[in-house]
Amino acid sequence: MIRLTLIEHGGTPHEVSASAGSSLMQAAVDNAVPGIDADCGGGCACGTCH
Ligand code: FES
Repeated sequence: MIRLTLIEHGGTPHEVSASAGSSLMQAAVDNAVPGIDADCGGGCACGTCH
């Protein structure tokens, strides 16, 4: 597992864990980080993970 700190636009940090080889988007979604909707599941079609 890899430990990450994701920071919201407003500055709120989120300490999360991710498996090696997974995406930052998936780590954010798996840990319910606000603002990362990822509606298309990482298919590069929606832009809601940016
Ligand atoms: S989840 Fe990233 S573009 Fe849709």
